[in-house]
Amino acid sequence: MRICVYPGSFDPITNGHLDIIDRASKISDKLIVAVLVNSSKNPLFTLEERVRLLKCTLKDKPNVEIGSFSGLLVDFMKEKNATAIIKGLRAVSDFEYELQMALLNKNLAPDIETLFMMTNINYSFLSSSAVKELARNGGKIDGLVPECIKDEVIRKFNLGV
Ligand code: PNS
Repeated sequence: MRICVYPGSFDPITNGHLDIIDRASKISDKLIVAVLVNSSKNPLFTLEERVRLLKCTLKDKPNVEIGSFSGLLVDFMKEKNATAIIKGLRAVSDFEYELQMALLNKNLAPDIETLFMMTNINYSFLSSSAVKELARNGGKIDGLVPECIKDEVIRKFNLGV
């Protein structure tokens, strides 16, 4: 059984993430979307909120599971018997950081592979940070995040949290 892990902060999930999840789930028996608990990026959404938004988005995908982890990704992978890390690449600018991560993870766990998927061209400009920036300033986020999370993202800023 091929278990793959798609790790990230998902603060919040975007349609770019969702595209990678859809494609990665096709080449996995089981895909675990793994939310990093203590991101150094100081997430806007709490872990519970990020997981709830993922659950609403992914509820109809039978071989996709949601998990969360703190500490090293490779330790989470071993705990779950997962063999491949899935990463999305949007542009050359993502590459240097992702190469470093992939090599560090390879050094820590030689049996675990990192697989890169090129982003769908329609989402190559998209990031969670961009979504937050738009929502904070009253810009439209239609088509950028899954429909079922849109209102919660907008509400977060309206409440001034
Ligand atoms: O969505 P993000 O914030 O770009 O995701 C980054 C993530 C969670 C994939 C990365 O920060 C990560 O794997 N962190 C866990 C710590 C770890 O294992 N680091 C790599 C070896 S030092």
